[in-house]
Formats: sequence, C-alpha cells, structure tokens
Amino acid sequence: MTSQTLREARKYEDASGKLIRKEERPDFHLTPRTGWMNDPNGFSYYKGRYHLFYQYYPYESRWGSMHWGHAVSSDLLHWEYLPCALAPDEAYDRDGCFSGSAVELPDGRQLLMYTGVLKEHEERDIYREVQTQCIAVGDGVDYEKYEQNPVLDQRDIPAGSSRFDFRDPKIWRKVDGTYACVVGNRPADGSGQILLYDSADGFHWKFKNVLVSNQDRFGKMWECPDFFELDGKWVLLTSPQDMRPEGFEYHNGNGTLCLIGDYDEGAGKFVETHNQSIDYGIDFYAAQTVLAPDGRRIMIGWMQNWDACSMRSPDEPWFGQMSLPRELFLKNGRLYQRPIRELDAMRRDKVEYRDVTVSGVVKLNGIKGRKVDMELTVRPGDEEELYQKFAVRFAQNDTCYTSLSFRPRESILKVDRKFSGSRRAIIHQRRSLVKTENGELKLRIILDCFSVEVFVDDGKQVMTATMYTEQEADDISFFANGTANIDIVKYDLR
Ligand code: FRU
Repeated sequence: MTSQTLREARKYEDASGKLIRKEERPDFHLTPRTGWMNDPNGFSYYKGRYHLFYQYYPYESRWGSMHWGHAVSSDLLHWEYLPCALAPDEAYDRDGCFSGSAVELPDGRQLLMYTGVLKEHEERDIYREVQTQCIAVGDGVDYEKYEQNPVLDQRDIPAGSSRFDFRDPKIWRKVDGTYACVVGNRPADGSGQILLYDSADGFHWKFKNVLVSNQDRFGKMWECPDFFELDGKWVLLTSPQDMRPEGFEYHNGNGTLCLIGDYDEGAGKFVETHNQSIDYGIDFYAAQTVLAPDGRRIMIGWMQNWDACSMRSPDEPWFGQMSLPRELFLKNGRLYQRPIRELDAMRRDKVEYRDVTVSGVVKLNGIKGRKVDMELTVRPGDEEELYQKFAVRFAQNDTCYTSLSFRPRESILKVDRKFSGSRRAIIHQRRSLVKTENGELKLRIILDCFSVEVFVDDGKQVMTATMYTEQEADDISFFANGTANIDIVKYDLR
C-alpha cells in the first residue's frame, strides 16, 4: 500500500526529473533524480543488480523532510532511477526517513532498515528529534513498512545514552544466517559510540554491546557506521561530526574515520589497532559498502561536505553526488581504495606520453577533457636538485582551474578549487601528507564533469573534491618549479 505522501513524491520526481537534461549531470556519478541528495543508503546487490538508495528531498535542492531515493545499476556506473522507495508517512517517522541499509531475506524479499525521526515537543517552540530504528520490506521497487515499527528505540540503548542521536543502522547477515547491525549513538560524554545489535530473523533485535567508544577522540557524534571483515581484519567506517584537526590526518568539521582491528564475534568485542581518514580531500562523507557477488568489498560515499553545501546554488535542479564506487583492500595495515574495475570498460582514446620534462608550464596535445581517467607518474627531472613543486591543473580555461600540487620537500599534496568559479567563502583547499621515495609520486586522477577523485600511490590515499566549473573549461596543464619528469596515460571516459 503506497501512502499519499509517497505517491506525491513519485509523481513529482517523475515529472521534475524529466526536465533535467543529461548534459546537466555528471556522466557516471549518481545524482538525485531531482532535488536534494545526501548519504548513500541500502547499498546492496539484489535480484541481479546493484541497488543504491539515498537520502532524498525531491521537492527542492536543499535538505528537507527525508525520503529514500532509489537507483539500480549492473556496473555501478550507469544508473537507472526507480521510484522513490520510502517517504516520511508514518506516526513514527513522519519527520524523516534517515539513513540505513539493506539485506536480502531468505524468502527473497529485501529488508530495509532505517532511522525513523519524530519531533517531540520540549517547551515553547523547542522540538527535539527522537530517533528509532525501523524496517520496511519489499521486492526491489515497492516497500511496505513493518507493522511493529520501530524495532529499536530508547529501551534498547545503554543507560545515559541519547535517544536523540541514535541513527544510521547498517545491517548484515552473518555466516550462521542470523543478523547483526551497528548504529551510531551518543553516550553521556556527548561524543560518539557505535552500538551493536543481534537478531535471529532481521525483525526482532537485541542489544549486544558497545562496539566502539569514541571517548572524545575523533569529533563528537559518529554517524553512518559500517562494519565488515576485510583481508583477515575487521574494519569500522564512520563519519564523525565536529572534528578538530590532527596534523594532516583529520580536518575540522565533519570528517571520515576508518578503524582497523580484530573482532571477537561471539563476545561482540572489537579491538582497534589502527586509525586513519577514509578520504583526504574536501568532499567525502557517510561511506557505505556492499559485498559484491565476486567477493569485492565496494564502498561509495556522499561526495560532499556538509559545511560546503553552498558551493552549488539551491536554484539548480539537483544537489549532491555520490562518489565513484571504490574497491577496498588492506595493505601494510592501512585501508587502500581503487576505482572499481568496471570503469576500465569506459576507457576510450588512449593518449600516452613517456619521459616528458616539465619545467615551467607544459601543455600536451590530446590531454584535455572533463570526463577523464589519467595516470600520472612524477619523478625528479634533475638529479642534483629536487623540484620544489609540481602541479597539474584541470577544468581550466582563461579564468578557471582546479589544481593538484605536490611539494616533495614538505611531502604535501594539495587539492585547490579556489579558482573553480565558486562565489562562496568556504573551504576550497585541502592538504594531505603524502610521503614519497625521492619525490616520485603516482596519481590516478578521475574527472567527471563536476568532480575530481585522486588515487595516490595505487590507492594508499584518496582525495576527493567537487567543482562546479563551467564544462567548457576543459584544459589540462602541467607545471613545475624546478624540473620534474612525468609519464602520462590518459583516457576519455565514455
Ligand atoms: C549524515 C546524516 C545522517 C542522517 C542523515 C539525515 O550525513 O546526518 O546521520 O541519517 O544525514 O539526512
């Protein structure tokens, strides 16, 4: 049974989505069918296709009462929109269907677990949002909310923990056929914690343990957790709010955090051995993963920073992009990411240069475009003296460019979109510590109309940023202060 609220959303998105021309969107990064998009939700493989839901407000290009948008794909690059899956239409979620996840039930139905939001009146005009975990079950298009919702509420959280910050369940099916989920929450100390729950059938849930406590180390509230096994270890991904910077590892504001460690499943205990950022650029948040049928652990994130949403005018017909899906693996105790291999099938018109000396500005024939996959190796060009700075500029014309610059003496790689056409006083640059052997650096740069994703040293670090530069700005150029030597392999992506 579809509610009036959901019917209206579906009707609206159908009419309004048609008005957005293909050229107004990126090519292979998912954008909302119309209006606003934030976190990826319910990333799953179901009935032979990948499903991706997203936090969605169809009616305007700004955050509003949350729905779940829905798209499917067989290669994670070409997406087809399906009708809006969830709308805030029940007594327990009428103020929003917040983030969550998906799993397939043994009977072939798909179960969505999400956060229901309900505003509770406190005093005068003060309201607080009570958050509970809810379930909807469906066939890949239509979902019915469970009559016993919510399935987790304030009775299921440890004493002293907040019922106002209790959200973003990530569910998975265990080897023994039972289910577990992790949920972000705030304990009495005001910082974050991740709660672990167990269920025999996916519908009836029991609190198991506090999986990880922030204890005020990384920001405050921890949003959008994900927890999975990878290469013999266990990985917790989360997105902390209100971070303070720590060297070049963590930056101010909303950030990303990856904890790697060991997990005792029986006891529900996780012991951390390593922490790092997930993405070192400007725009990446709320990552969620799917286990692909071939065993790959694939991650996608909201390619946006909450503090920089004014980058794009709310008058535009859509707001928000998903990142490129990335394959995850561990190497030397760190999280590595590489663009999904499906992208290789979109590579066209290879242009290759070897051993190009760069000193000052260099432009090369055939190296331009805004939908590009470019591998770039940079080495010192002068044995006596290490270059001071190397830069690649792209999305460039007479007035605009976005750049990546590397200073080997300081080991700093910087992404800079200050001259991307932005009219807002927000973050436009971010630096990251990138250690190299003798100034030799390997980059893979993926451009898709409104974004750049840089995979450093075979995925050891990734830097992501959006840029809304006009599409005609499609030059690419290289620059060195001192002498650098570069190899380039570049493809257009189609
Ligand atoms: C993260 C987040 C989630 C929440 C959702 C609401 O970006 O704040 O914690 O579920 O967005 O749209």
